[in-house]
Amino acid sequence: MATWLMMICMMIMPIFMASFVSADPELLQDVCVADLTSGVKLNGFPCKTNISADDFFFAGLAKPALTNNTLGATVSPASVQQITGLNTLGVSMARVDYAPGGLNPPHTHPRATEIVFMLEGELDVGFITTENKLFSKTIKKGEIFTFPRGLLHFQINNGKVPAAALAAFNSQLPGTQRAANALFGSSPMVDDNVLTKAFQIGTKEVEKIKSKFAPKK
Ligand code: GLV
Ligand code: MN
Repeated sequence: MATWLMMICMMIMPIFMASFVSADPELLQDVCVADLTSGVKLNGFPCKTNISADDFFFAGLAKPALTNNTLGATVSPASVQQITGLNTLGVSMARVDYAPGGLNPPHTHPRATEIVFMLEGELDVGFITTENKLFSKTIKKGEIFTFPRGLLHFQINNGKVPAAALAAFNSQLPGTQRAANALFGSSPMVDDNVLTKAFQIGTKEVEKIKSKFAPKK
């Protein structure tokens, strides 16, 4: 009896493991180019009928993006929203450009692990585990760093020249949640008393931070 049970467990274990370790769901067909305009709601996007090579192509990461914004960094995504052919394929990319001093602020990707490859310059990068341990490193051109799925992470260009990195994700739409924007710029807003207590600061400070992250009307 015990042996039978063990054999059954050994047979079904890999199936469970496979479904736990994969990020996006497994493919059920060769391609399913996303119809982003469909009103049908499902997990992913419905498939288009007329497809071409262009559905799998994107030139949007070829050039550096402008970085003249508050943070001095710009993320250019290449997800299923830009490359509809990625629908159901479980992968995507992004390019991040950083001015000197530029910051990609603390954020998480709820649906993907991220791996970055430095194209140019140098970055100080890090992620924080659920036990609040920081893993950080300086990475330069040609080097790679990994941010495990769901963990808070950031990159800052402490160098004197611009930097650029290419990020790959094991999800067609990793999702990005920036910590500061989520807490201080949500709509409707999180109550001040939640934030004063959470951050151990006064209402004035909370209001000041909120004013910087208020969603644009
Ligand atoms: C970098 O962390 C990115 O999400 O593009
Ligand atoms: Mn990221």
